[in-house]
Amino acid sequence: MKIKILKDGPYLIEGSIPLYREIMVKYKMLIPERWEKVEKFETKESYALCRCGLSKNKPFCDGSHKKGFNGEETAEDKPFNEIAKKFEGKNFDLLDAKPLCASARFCIKKEGVWEAIKKEENEIEEIKQMVFNCPSGRLVLIDKNGNPVEPNFEKEISILEDNLTGVSSAIWVKGGIPIESSKGFIYEIRNRVTLCRCGKSSNKPFCDGTHLKIKFQDEKYFSGGDKKWII
Ligand code: SF4
Ligand code: FES
Repeated sequence: MKIKILKDGPYLIEGSIPLYREIMVKYKMLIPERWEKVEKFETKESYALCRCGLSKNKPFCDGSHKKGFNGEETAEDKPFNEIAKKFEGKNFDLLDAKPLCASARFCIKKEGVWEAIKKEENEIEEIKQMVFNCPSGRLVLIDKNGNPVEPNFEKEISILEDNLTGVSSAIWVKGGIPIESSKGFIYEIRNRVTLCRCGKSSNKPFCDGTHLKIKFQDEKYFSGGDKKWII
C-alpha cells in the first residue's frame, strides 16, 4: 500500500486502499464533535485522487491538472518531533506542530485542548477525542514517559467535507500509509496526516487549512438545494 505523488499531478493510490467520505458532526456553532462516514467508494486496486482542485470528477483526477497546476512539494522534510512544540499537561503532554493544521477545529471545543490538559478534573476521554479527531496529526498526546497515545486506525483514506462551513476539506490518510514524494523519498510515516486537495496549500503535499480561506468546494457534493450536507 502506498500513495505516490505525481509531479504537478494527482496522488496515485496503490494497494486497494479503502476510500470513504466523512463529514463533521456538530458540537456547537462551527465546532465539530466527531467525524462520520457517509459514503464508501468502490475499492479499486489503484486510483488517482485530484491534488489540483480543478477536477470536474472530484475526488478523482480527470486530467485537469494539465492546464498548468504547480504542485511543487514545499513541506519541510523534518520529522514531526522536530517541528512540534510541547505543552505540559497534568497526566499527558501535548505535542503541537502548527504548520500542519487543517483548520478542522476539534481542538477548540470548550476551553481548548491546550487548557484542558492542564486540569486534573478534566475527562481524559474527551481530551483524547479532541486530539484523535484532529485529522492532520498536528496534535499528538504523549504520556509522561514520552510515548504517543494514538487511536488504532485501519489503513484507509477519507475525503473530508467541512459541512459546518460548507467547504470541502482535506484528504485524511490514516493508519501509517507510506507517502512517496514526486522526487522518490518517503515522508515520515504517521498514523494521521492530511493531504491538500484544493491545490493551494503552502505546505504541499500536506494541508495547511487554505481550503477554508478560498472556500474550496467539491461542486458535486455541495450542489442541490436540499442542503443534505448540513447535519
Ligand atoms: S487540524 Fe487539528 S489542530 Fe488544526 S484545528 Fe483541527 S483539530 Fe485543531
Ligand atoms: S490532479 Fe488531476 S485533475 Fe486535479
